[in-house]
Amino acid sequence: MNHTSRYTGLIEKYRDRLPVKKETRLISLGEGATPLIRLQNIPRTLGKQVELYVKYEGLNPTGSFKDRGMTMAVTKAVEDDSRAIICASTGNTSAAAAAYAARAGIACFVVIPDGKIAQGKLAQAMIHGAVVIQIQGNFDAGMALVKQVADEAPVTIVNSINPYRLQGQKTAAFEIIEDLGVAPDFHCLPVGNAGNITAHWIGYCEYSSASGKNVTAACTFCQGQCAFANGAVSKSRPKMVGYQAAGAAPFLRGAMVDNPETVATAIRIGHPQSWDQAWKVKEESGGWFAECTDDEILTAQKLLAEKEGVFCEPASATSLAGALRDIKTGRIPEASRVVCTLTGHGLKDPDTAIKQSTGPLHKVRAELGAVKKVIFDNMPR
Ligand code: F0G
Repeated sequence: MNHTSRYTGLIEKYRDRLPVKKETRLISLGEGATPLIRLQNIPRTLGKQVELYVKYEGLNPTGSFKDRGMTMAVTKAVEDDSRAIICASTGNTSAAAAAYAARAGIACFVVIPDGKIAQGKLAQAMIHGAVVIQIQGNFDAGMALVKQVADEAPVTIVNSINPYRLQGQKTAAFEIIEDLGVAPDFHCLPVGNAGNITAHWIGYCEYSSASGKNVTAACTFCQGQCAFANGAVSKSRPKMVGYQAAGAAPFLRGAMVDNPETVATAIRIGHPQSWDQAWKVKEESGGWFAECTDDEILTAQKLLAEKEGVFCEPASATSLAGALRDIKTGRIPEASRVVCTLTGHGLKDPDTAIKQSTGPLHKVRAELGAVKKVIFDNMPR
């Protein structure tokens, strides 16, 4: 990145690696450049030596990794003169689509499962002015409908079957390599449609095939600052590990799941759209799929919030829940460098967070004595 200029989003930063032209109007909200936070307190309790990081994608403009894909998908939709976009969503895609459509000045239609999306996500689609279509069916039914309707109406699909989505999302892998100087040994992600795990693998592969060559010239915008400019960086790629919620784990069953159920509503998906690609990612990277129960997911969400100060939504905690288990059992060996993607912000789903917070809420009179008592009763000893 050119450090003399303001950061204006991932397309501008990685424009040499993305399908945009000089004259393309970029639809951006400053997405990307999210922090890679090294966990300090949780690893200490594991009794294992690992370098464990979380990539906090909840800090994107609409609070999830979807913004990386949406900036690309909406930029291309506008370039192709589309006047409307559409998606099926468990909530985050619709939030991002609604925001980027608002920014672009085009219409947005979102098809969501009735009653099964977190409150914050519904609020986002509504406030950005999307036309919200709640169906009496789940995400998979919505996705099937969106594909059909796009054949009959002039709307551009911005789900991850839109290849520009994955192009935008691959940039998270670039950022991780830039931050660490090398690729991690393991990259753990929650898996729903499996678009994101596929996008990360594209990013790591592009990077590893570019490094070692003289790519400095090819990467003009960054002026030597981005991952591609540094030919000396390791050519390694991580093992990609995909974690699913046990009630919505088609990759573990080896077949589609018709009635997916999980507290992690973002990944309540039984018919993943990137099925073939994700199996290829697993094979090529030497990684694996595993499943986490709802209890494990919520425990990891809470652990992260209480011990590290990082608040992610339940689906996001699936990556950490799985990684912690695989570190404990040794499947992820000691001395590994591990990155877990936290796909969405915890504020997306306040209801679940409040429900599982056991800390007491003290209702007292507005008097000094009453407040002081609570403080002294609860001081650490
Ligand atoms: N985590 C969160 C918070 C998500 O919202 C999603 C997907 C995933 C993980 C899984 O990513 O589908 O690429 O494997 N959410 C989509 C949506 C389905 O509609 O917001 P994936």
